[in-house]
Amino acid sequence: MSDLEKVCRFLEESGTYYLATAEGDQPRVRPFGTVLAYEGKLYIQTGKSKSVSRQLAANPKAEICAFKDGKWVRVSGELVNDDRLEVKTAMLEKYPSLRAMYDPADSNTQVLYFRGAEAVFSSFTAAPETVSF
Ligand SMILES: Cc1cc2nc3c(=O)[nH]c(=O)nc-3n(C[C@H](O)[C@H](O)[C@H](O)COP(=O)(O)O)c2cc1C
Repeated sequence: MSDLEKVCRFLEESGTYYLATAEGDQPRVRPFGTVLAYEGKLYIQTGKSKSVSRQLAANPKAEICAFKDGKWVRVSGELVNDDRLEVKTAMLEKYPSLRAMYDPADSNTQVLYFRGAEAVFSSFTAAPETVSF
């Protein structure tokens, strides 16, 4: 399994992760669930109308954290917008319940991928393990 697949699987199995952005010098964090490995990159999904999207447009630096079975992962890097229809379609195919709110061709649906991502797996019992993708 590649490092990307390892991180993606951990996030999927966690169910929910928390996405931190910056609004000026104020950290903002919220629960997220969407995650997709596509063309060797880790994608998430949101709506362009959301504050989180505006924050990332102003400052792409972001970190996500998820916890499962005594282990947690933090992924940090920059979240880059990708307006390609095929990625949005793949994301919404993975999460069909989102089709009630989003369409790949609408002007709101947004997918972003991590650039320069570093993921650190931690636990109370083992040394941290760092992967990059
Ligand atoms: C379990 C859970 C998963 C969520 N997953 C997402 C997601 O993947 N993408 C998204 O845009 N919003 C998701 N949301 C909703 C956001 O947390 C919510 O819209 C939040 O207010 C967005 O942050 P903002 O208000 O700073 O823009 C999720 C909410 C919950 C409770």
